[in-house]
Formats: sequence, structure tokens, C-alpha cells
Amino acid sequence: MRIYKAKDYKDMSRKAANILSAQIIMKPNAVLGLATGSTPEGLYAQLIDWYQKGDLDFSKVISVNLDEYYGLSPESEQSYRYFMNHHLFDHVNIQTENTHLPNGLELDVKKEVARYTELIRSFDGIDMQLLGIGHNGHVGFNEPDTAFETQIHCVDLTESTIEANKRFFASADEVPKKAYTLGIKSIMQAKKILLVCSGADKADILYRALFGPVTPEVPASILQMHNDLIVVADEAALSKFPEELFD
Ligand code: GLP
Repeated sequence: MRIYKAKDYKDMSRKAANILSAQIIMKPNAVLGLATGSTPEGLYAQLIDWYQKGDLDFSKVISVNLDEYYGLSPESEQSYRYFMNHHLFDHVNIQTENTHLPNGLELDVKKEVARYTELIRSFDGIDMQLLGIGHNGHVGFNEPDTAFETQIHCVDLTESTIEANKRFFASADEVPKKAYTLGIKSIMQAKKILLVCSGADKADILYRALFGPVTPEVPASILQMHNDLIVVADEAALSKFPEELFD
């Protein structure tokens, strides 16, 4: 595991964008596992900026998103498809047909899980998986106590996740109760993982995830076992980590 300490959110976004860009430069047809949430927004804005300056080319990039709300249409402003179009895809030269998310409108879970599993298999896996972390240690929508062996699946969201994500909806009642997500095992199969984290409110969970026991109670703790995990976090999020780690 390599941990890069950033000064603040802006610096974290730039450092993480540098790592993702290096992946695209080294492998122009890279398969990127992308994530939503407020944490990667600055990273995406930085990628757009470099694209506009002519420093990045997304024409061959393939993206596979981590998760999507069950029952939401791509046009819904709260869907992750809408988020990705708005925060990245509409502003760079990625080909729409190369951008993939679970289909929230497919209500037949078995069918959608089979489709998305086969899609990722057909790409020969994910080169770099970008991840944020939830306050309860969830990654994607893998809530505490999800078995580490889980592949792509449809989950019942916990109250705390619904609470945390209600800020994007008119009220908590409107937050879908279920979501499709890559499972812990699918995430661990990515060749590289880039975890981004910002803010004092994530300091405890980030420490537990990276230095606590590896346990399904903290889904992100399994990332300690990945052989190519890169963490970019700001000082506030790393405040519980011993200083000497960063000498
Ligand atoms: C959501 C997403 C996760 C994300 C998490 C943290 O539940 N499904 O992929 O990592 O929230 O989001 P934020 O970065 O806004 O704190």
C-alpha cells in the first residue's frame, strides 16, 4: 500500500488525477473503474482541465462504474449515470458507447448482474479502480457485513447510507432503497486500486480501514490485502495516522 498525503481537497484531487492520467497515458485503452460521490468531483474537474489543454486523450478509454441506484433512470439527476455525464463524460472525448454503468432501470436483478459481470469479464478486468469510502467503511455500495466473496450484486442500502446520500435528493424518502454495486471481490480483482479520501469526518474510518483489523464490519479494510493499493488523502483525513509514515 502506498499512501500519498495531500495538503487539502484541491491538492488531493490534483495528485489523484495525476495518477489516473498516468494510467491513461501508459495505456490509452485502459479500463477505468470509476466512482461517484463528492470526493472524486475535484479529480474529475482536474482531468477535464488537462483534457481541454490537450494533455489527455480519452478516445480509447473504457469506463465501468462501480454502482448505480436500482430503479433510477439515466435521466434522473440523482442517478450515477447523470453524475458521470455531468462531471466527466460530457466534457472529454470518451466515446459514449465505451462508458458503462449498471442499468438502474433493469428491475430483473439476475439479468442485470449477469450482463454487468459478463461485460467486465469481456474487458479482461479493470486496470485501475477509483474508490471513495463511506463513513461506515462502505466501498461502492458494499455495506458493513457484506461477505468479501461477493461479486456484482444488488444491495439493500443501510439507514446511514440513505441518510448520507439524502443530500442529493429532495428528502430521505426519495433515496432509492436498493442499488447495484460491484462486490468486494470484483473490486479486489482490479489490477490497481486508487482510494481517495478527504476531510476530518473520514479520519476515523480511514484509519480503521487501512490499519484496523481486516473485517467485513469495515468493508474497505479488505483493501489492505490488495497488492497494488494507492491511497491519496488530505491531511485532515490522515490526522489519525502516525507522522513517521510520511517522512
Ligand atoms: C456513496 C457511493 C460511494 C462513495 C460514498 C462516499 O454511497 N456509492 O461510491 O464512495 O458514497 O461518498 P462521498 O465521497 O460523497 O463521501
